[in-house]
Amino acid sequence: MSSIAIRGGHILDPSQGLDIVADLLIVEGRIAAVGPDAGADVREVIDASGLLVLPGLVDIHCHLREPGLEHKETIETGALAAVRGGFTTVCCMPNTEPPLDSAPTIRWLQGRVSQVGLVRVLPIACVTRGRRGKELADLIELAEAGAVAFSDDGEPVAEPQLLRLALQYASVLGLPIVEHCEDKSLSAGGVMHEGWVATRLGLKGIPPAAEEAAVARAIALCAETGGRLHLAHISTAGSVGWLRLAKAQGIPISAEVTPHHLCLTHEIIMGEGGVPGGLLYDTNAKVNPPLRPRADADACVAALAEGAIDCIATDHAPHSVEEKLCEFDLAAFGISSLETALALCLSLVHQGRVSLGRLIEAMTIGPVRALGLHRHVPGLGTLAVGAPGDVTIVDPEREWRVEPDCFASKGKNTPLAGRTLRGKVVCTIYGGKVVWKE
Ligand code: DOR
Repeated sequence: MSSIAIRGGHILDPSQGLDIVADLLIVEGRIAAVGPDAGADVREVIDASGLLVLPGLVDIHCHLREPGLEHKETIETGALAAVRGGFTTVCCMPNTEPPLDSAPTIRWLQGRVSQVGLVRVLPIACVTRGRRGKELADLIELAEAGAVAFSDDGEPVAEPQLLRLALQYASVLGLPIVEHCEDKSLSAGGVMHEGWVATRLGLKGIPPAAEEAAVARAIALCAETGGRLHLAHISTAGSVGWLRLAKAQGIPISAEVTPHHLCLTHEIIMGEGGVPGGLLYDTNAKVNPPLRPRADADACVAALAEGAIDCIATDHAPHSVEEKLCEFDLAAFGISSLETALALCLSLVHQGRVSLGRLIEAMTIGPVRALGLHRHVPGLGTLAVGAPGDVTIVDPEREWRVEPDCFASKGKNTPLAGRTLRGKVVCTIYGGKVVWKE
């Protein structure tokens, strides 16, 4: 029988209100016991004294780029990046080439994932065929093949009528629609947040209303259809306001925020707010939705702390060097974030703005509940006895320098290069197997 005992760690599992120093035992790939002297006679032992022992982190929004965009990332490099970042479960977005819009592509992906074997990958399939926004994909067939949600992420669902129909199907299938909220007529041509930094730099802005109008539209359709709606990467105080209103009315909605929208602001594109001597026109900070002013980031942090925003998702969006080493207007949108997500978010804990328990909740059981993933994988996001043996061990005080050249991800595109972060993943265990150890 294969067993691992993790000794003397600070075990934190918000799903069970567990916050104790104890041992944890994994047997045959599942959590077998938590408590003093769990697994006293086991041979494979990890000493976790002084370290945090968490349920394996869950990221419900990342781009693994396979099939078709292997120059940006592969399932293998993305999986390696995930486990280094402490994630044992990720949901991958369907904006690949071809897009994940048919049962065979979903099955192909699952085959690749099991060959790699490092991390659980739960696929999110397209809402519309080819992500073209013209006709609905076969959502029933995609659900049967294993899709856990539907999204045209990277783009909004182009037609409100199609979003409405998708939500109707979603309510029958019991799966959520993950909407990338962007009114394309309002964002057209924009490359960063519309504000004083964009004016100063001479770049065309994307107004907050491009996101907020789309959030309002999606909420109205959700209310009408009763289909489960999850808002991807919300970034403005206005979106938070709509979210709060919808939740107060009992509308079946959830939302995620990214580490960068919580912790970074648009000034970083001017070379400020990052490392001293940061880059002007740093294309690594070009992301969609764009980094916003402090007031928006603060509204997102407050909503996360209170639980109005359900969870953190990385929106890990790796790109090749060529796609970023160019004029700001031409650069691809996206930040490579799996390997920095936890440490960047821990800065909110170190600053006393979000409690450690709430942060871990937002990276474990929060995302599981938001997309209903426990229906696919019972016990996911918890350290309950019988749950998958997915565990992340973190040194919360360890300082380290972000060096993109050392990333496992092919995407070196981070605006955090050179920055010192506090908090490091030291060991990741997936299904009872150590998949990353420093
Ligand atoms: O910045 C982004 N990059 N935002 C998205 O919505 C898509 C993503 C990508 O696929 O590169």
